[in-house]
Amino acid sequence: MNILGISAFYHDSAACLVVDGRIVAAAQEERFTRKKHDYEFPKNAVDYCLEEAGLRPEELDLVAFYDKPLLKFDRLLETYISYSPAGFKLFLMGLPLWLKQKLHTPRELDRGLKGQYKGRFVFTEHHESHAASAFFPSPFEEAAVLTLDGVGEWATGSIAHGRGHELTMLKEMRFPHSLGLLYSAFTYFTGFKVNSGEYKLMGLAPYGDPIYKDLMIEKLLDIKDDGSFRMDMSYFGFCNSDVMTSPKMNSLFGGPPRKSETEITQREMDIAASIQAVTEEIVLKIARYAHEQTGSKNLCMAGGVALNCVANGRVLREGPFENVWIQPAAGDAGGALGAAMFTWHQLLGNERTVNPVDAQYGSLLGPEFEEDEVVAYLKSVGAVYHKHDDEEKLVDAIAELIANEKVVGHFADRAEFGPRALGSRSILGDGRSTKMQETMNLKIKFRESFRPFAPAVLRNDVHEYFDMREDENSPYMLLVAPVKEEKRLPVAEADQAKGLDKLKEVRSVVPAITHVDYSARVQTIDEDHHPRFHKIITAFKRKTGSPVVINTSFNVRGEPIVNTPHDAYRCFMHTNMDVLVLENVILLKDEQPGAGEIDEAAYLAEFALD
Ligand SMILES: [Fe+2]
Repeated sequence: MNILGISAFYHDSAACLVVDGRIVAAAQEERFTRKKHDYEFPKNAVDYCLEEAGLRPEELDLVAFYDKPLLKFDRLLETYISYSPAGFKLFLMGLPLWLKQKLHTPRELDRGLKGQYKGRFVFTEHHESHAASAFFPSPFEEAAVLTLDGVGEWATGSIAHGRGHELTMLKEMRFPHSLGLLYSAFTYFTGFKVNSGEYKLMGLAPYGDPIYKDLMIEKLLDIKDDGSFRMDMSYFGFCNSDVMTSPKMNSLFGGPPRKSETEITQREMDIAASIQAVTEEIVLKIARYAHEQTGSKNLCMAGGVALNCVANGRVLREGPFENVWIQPAAGDAGGALGAAMFTWHQLLGNERTVNPVDAQYGSLLGPEFEEDEVVAYLKSVGAVYHKHDDEEKLVDAIAELIANEKVVGHFADRAEFGPRALGSRSILGDGRSTKMQETMNLKIKFRESFRPFAPAVLRNDVHEYFDMREDENSPYMLLVAPVKEEKRLPVAEADQAKGLDKLKEVRSVVPAITHVDYSARVQTIDEDHHPRFHKIITAFKRKTGSPVVINTSFNVRGEPIVNTPHDAYRCFMHTNMDVLVLENVILLKDEQPGAGEIDEAAYLAEFALD
């Protein structure tokens, strides 16, 4: 049975194909259209999924959409009425898109599938989709399932109990009280873009002190023991205006929100630290409550808030659960996967066989390119390349380049599904290098200098470098853990930097991936999830003794992660990247014709700031 899951018309459109309960393909539309967070019908992603399985639209048995648009519209109407007349302007602003597109989702889906699919459309609830994406691919037979995001229809969070092929919903949190929207409100207030800059806010938090935490809890929130809370809506603007916070918020923090692209001050750093601390406290409370209600030792998570890897790390270390599995496409793109899985297991009642590794397959569910396609492309652009037919030699050459402090764009295997690059569409570097952090931020990614990089570390060595259990897994880079005490280096008082310059301090034996609070967003690499990446780091360790490589997504700021050899080659040629690996082919920058004429400004201008 072929089930196509779709998420669309809000942000992060995606498609996922599930055949007899197995995830066969999944991809996000932005990778194809090169428009970050693209929300249109995921035409390219659907085409890709069908092509991967050799199916035509008429061969689909069901198409599942990740939320219920009419219920969502109901929420908008009710919000308008309760916040009338102020909410009317907001309502009117959103109305044209609803009348044109969202209220006619079946028609839009039919159009998107070119009228060739004649079967039924299934609409699952937004948080059912998130919960299904968290539990069904997980390695657990039974688990507590926690979803937290901005908002779906009415729900902003849910707790469910998953057993075998069934999810039982236990509790829901409802709009406007929302942990995701609370975090987004401060993303806005600190001058970052809502629904995309939340990561920056999290990255900024370690530079500040949580001096506003108590104030936030006292003034903005009423938190119950079970982690549910009510927000004082007089401080927030998202129900009745087109901004996230109201003028009343300004009085709490001594002035208006920061304007984007202006200087980040101590205030923003302290606000970031404070809202992060509040978020962690709430997530921990909800996790404890979910444990009480289910008695489970396993926890699954999804929803945009589950991308907060600092909170996730605390749940794993301090929460009552022994095991935690988080859907790598935790945001709304993953709703496509969840809608299809929910339909197969929950609605159609099909049994589930638990895969002890997990059924997400390293999240390598996207497009892949054959060697002939790569070579034909490189010939067409006159690139100079070195083909390696022996995998051992290829892997050894890549490891050698990384060890020589080269910045290596690595493009191989199927693309990742979810916002993190996990080795297939990644830029790699030596974690021991003292210059890598700055080089990569400023000359390769062209992004804010305060943002840290993440380590990919061999699974068997993780406990040597980070405060994680020997048997702990983080294959999808969704957990932050402290760098081990014995790997840290003291920073002499005279060398201590202020503010955002703190990132330049060498504070461990792997400084390129150590954040200013000695934390790191860890990806563990094993043969089961990421076989080729495992070979590369193993070779790197053989040469250097270090099992830690920097892994950052293959793109520049504002650009969706590269999707094709063409995207990868362009990014390589327009940045200061030293090396490009495309499957089994290696390109060195200084051998390329035209390498001296990098016009990075023109390239960067193609992508809107995120
Ligand atoms: Fe969501």
